[in-house]
This record gives sequence, structure tokens and C-alpha cells, in this order.
Amino acid sequence: MSLTQIHVVEVGPRDGFQMEATFIPTDLKVEVIDLLGRAGIEKIEATSFVSPKLIPQMRDADEVMSRIRRFPGIRHTALVPNVKGAQRAIEAGAEAVRVVICLSESYNRRNVGLGISESLENCRRICEMTKNHDIGCEAILALAFGCPLEGVISEERVVGIANQLIGMGFGELSIADSIGVANPAHVRRLIRKLAKEAALAHYSLHFHNTRGLGLANVLAGIEEGVDTFDSSCGGLGGCPVVPGGSGNIPTEDLVNMLEEMGISTGVELALVMTAANKLQQFLRRPLASYVLASGTRKQLFEGAAAGPPAPA
Ligand code: COA
Ligand code: ZN
Repeated sequence: MSLTQIHVVEVGPRDGFQMEATFIPTDLKVEVIDLLGRAGIEKIEATSFVSPKLIPQMRDADEVMSRIRRFPGIRHTALVPNVKGAQRAIEAGAEAVRVVICLSESYNRRNVGLGISESLENCRRICEMTKNHDIGCEAILALAFGCPLEGVISEERVVGIANQLIGMGFGELSIADSIGVANPAHVRRLIRKLAKEAALAHYSLHFHNTRGLGLANVLAGIEEGVDTFDSSCGGLGGCPVVPGGSGNIPTEDLVNMLEEMGISTGVELALVMTAANKLQQFLRRPLASYVLASGTRKQLFEGAAAGPPAPA
């Protein structure tokens, strides 16, 4: 494994918050996002500009995006489903947008009411808009490993869509296992194929931890040369149509694993834990993050040194 630095993209304030039934007050959203910015996370998906009727939790997207603190070197992105969403994101001050397209026809219709070809046309228009406004533009290829309605998604389809997006000018593509069905062998195969057949983009990976394979999938991605991974503060998230679907890999667990392996993330774990603890207190349930529950190895060893002697 040759990579010595990994970039973390925080998606909890979008992918995580959107699943919560209780409205998270705007003040708390802003406080959490600012803590994650202070922690040094280079890219934070702060919200989404979607239908407030469909996703009421994101109804304060404009206010969140305009109130959060800007830190040098930290970009706040927003998920957008269409041109109107991109316009709203740009007006609210997003530094980049991430356009979502689902790789199964039926799920794309369910998610945004459009066929894949119509979403691709939206991608083309949004990419042009962002160039005119000099902000970043990425595409999220959702359900790239499998779809609850259509089963496994072929690697050929992922490569085909990736190449169409590259042709429109997209340089950053997020390959998303939105429902937690990827495994390390699948990750290796897909990344190798993309590197060979759709090489002109920078790829990041997005894993939900539904079957406990999230961090194993990260390692497979790193072994194939991927250097950027999405994760969610406190492991928040899920999937509205998949029973038992769980959140993204927790940011705390990702940062903890990488740093303990000697791979730098530039992220201050203690501040991410503070943010996750604030959310845990508000939501009044334990969040799905191992490090949040157990502390770090260093905390354990330091605690043990101060505590009673270990049993013989
Ligand atoms: N943000 C806010 N409002 C939007 C919007 C956006 N991005 N896009 C469209 N609208 C508004 C329209 O202006 C219109 O308003 P009106 O009734 O006051 O005239 C209304 O929504 C319906 O417009 P239409 O184009 O028919 O949209 P729709 O109802 O088919 O919804 C999406 C399309 C894309 C907005 C909706 O499907 C959506 O938000 N999907 C995202 C779901 C999501 O977040 N999934 C999880 C993350 S992947
Ligand atoms: Zn997701």
C-alpha cells in the first residue's frame, strides 16, 4: 500500500441528516458543520438543494449554506438533483456542487423523476453553469454496485456513464455504494476497469456500512490507488427504500483506522468526536460509530495506565 495521504469527504450533514425524522435545528447543523471544518476536513457535503416536500430535513439548505463558516482550504459542497438545485446552491454560496445520477433507470426515476438520459442532460447543463460561476462540479454515480430494484449494476454500465460524464467536462466522479452491497473484490474489479477504460477522471468512493464491509472496501480502494473517501460523522444515514440499510462508514472510524496505519488524513479526530457527540445527544440514541462508543486506542492505553492493574 503506497498511499501516505487520504482525503476525507464528510457527507453526514447531507446523507446522514436527510434520513432523520426529527428536524435537526439549523443552529445545530451549522454548529456541527463548523466543527467538521475546524477539524480540517477538506470537503464537506453540507446539505442538498432538493424538493423540501420530499426531503423536509433539507428545507433549510439555503440558510445552512449561507451561514456556515468558511475556512481556508475547506470547500463546502451540496448535492443537487437538477438545474434548479444547482442554481439554488450557487446563490447560497456553495463552493462546489455534486450532481447525483442513479445508475439504474427505475431508481433514477424514483429518486428524481427523470430517466438516466434526462439526468445526463441535466449534468451537462450543470457542469457548464458551474464553469461560468467558477465553482467545482462533481458527479455522484449512485447505486454503482447494485440497486434495490434492479440488482447488481454491471461494471460496463458504470464505465459507460463515467465516460459520458468525462466527455461533458466532469473531472471528479464519486462512485457510490448507496445501499451497502459492495465487497472488496467488486471494488477492486470496478476501480481497475475505470482506471483502464475511463481514466480521465479523479475517482472517490462512497460506502454505506450496511453489511459491515465499509472499511474493508476502503482498504481495497486504497490498494487500487483511490485516495478520496466519503464518510459520515457518527455513521449517520441510511436508505429510504432498503430495510436495514445503514449509514456511511463513520468518519471517526475511517480517520482512526487510517491514522493508526500511518496514513495521514489531516483531520483532527477529537473535533469530529465532539461533533458526533453533539448529534448523539440531540438524537438521543447511540450512533453507529465504534470509536465514538469505545474511544481510541490511545485513550484506552492512557486510561489503562492510570487505572487499576490488569488481572493476571
Ligand atoms: N429544489 C427545490 N424545489 C425544486 C427543485 C429543487 N432542486 N426542483 C424542482 N423544484 C420545484 C419546482 O420549482 C416545482 O415547484 P412549483 O410546484 O412551486 O412550481 C416543484 O418542485 C415540482 O417541479 P418538478 O420539476 O416537477 O419536480 P419534481 O416534483 O418531479 O421533483 C426533484 C424533482 C428532483 C426536485 C425531486 O425529485 C427531488 O428533490 N429529488 C431528490 C431526492 C433526494 O434528495 N434523494 C436523496 C439524495 S440522492
Ligand atoms: Zn450515500
